Amino acid sequence: VRKVRTHHLREMKQRGDKITMLTSYDMYTAQIFDEAGVDLLLVGDSASNNVLGNETSLPVTVDELLPLTRAVSRSAKRAMVVGDLPFGSYQASPEQGYLTAVRFMKEGGAHCVKLEGGAEMAPVIKKLTEGGIPVIAHIGFTPQSEHVLGGYRVQGRGDTSDRIIDDAKAVQEAGAFAVVMEMVPGDVAAQITKELDIPTIGIGAGPDCDGQVLVWQDAFGMRSGKMARFVKQYADVKSVLSDGAEAYIADVKGSTFPGPEHTF
Ligand code: KIV
Ligand code: NA
Repeated sequence: VRKVRTHHLREMKQRGDKITMLTSYDMYTAQIFDEAGVDLLLVGDSASNNVLGNETSLPVTVDELLPLTRAVSRSAKRAMVVGDLPFGSYQASPEQGYLTAVRFMKEGGAHCVKLEGGAEMAPVIKKLTEGGIPVIAHIGFTPQSEHVLGGYRVQGRGDTSDRIIDDAKAVQEAGAFAVVMEMVPGDVAAQITKELDIPTIGIGAGPDCDGQVLVWQDAFGMRSGKMARFVKQYADVKSVLSDGAEAYIADVKGSTFPGPEHTF
């Protein structure tokens, strides 16, 4: 299998061939999504609130994300593996960002990194790119800045759309090879997608982006409860697992497992 490379994604944009990305934080989901043909596997800082039990993405550390990144990069054969730089690990300076990103590449085996921010992150993006690390930018709603942005809100509505458009152009100019746009009005995302040469990957940014990304636990029903408007549920993994757990409990309590065929 041919590995997905940055130039393939650029060519997909030019052909109008949509790009797919899912989060993954472990060996089996990486294998399953990779074999299904997902182009990019994002070891998101969303591991914080989807794997590690935190309420938000803010608490997760580089040292917590690196083993998950390593598990995914060991397991994927074709997909590009994206290391997601966590809160506080790159905002202090381009040097801090570079040293963090190097850890994701060397220790995590990532093929590129993603970081949140627009124009203000241009120096960091430039430093990483020039140092041999491909960068995906992340603009619009950026969860690490939740407390500055005042909660989970659509960004770039009405006359604030210029700011998002400027951010998109600035990250492209700084050297990012793709940009994630989160919770941006569909028409703004469409305009940005048209104006940029690099691929756009949307989450809550409408159908006109060059690609889409979802958190797998949301997309495949690993959890119940309130889901963002932009999520579509494609499977019901939670029911499969809870039915399995209940059947196992019933079998053990009823002494029907293990049977003779399971016994030495
Ligand atoms: O961490 C994450 O899962 C993300 C995606 C939502 C883009 O950054
Ligand atoms: Na993230």
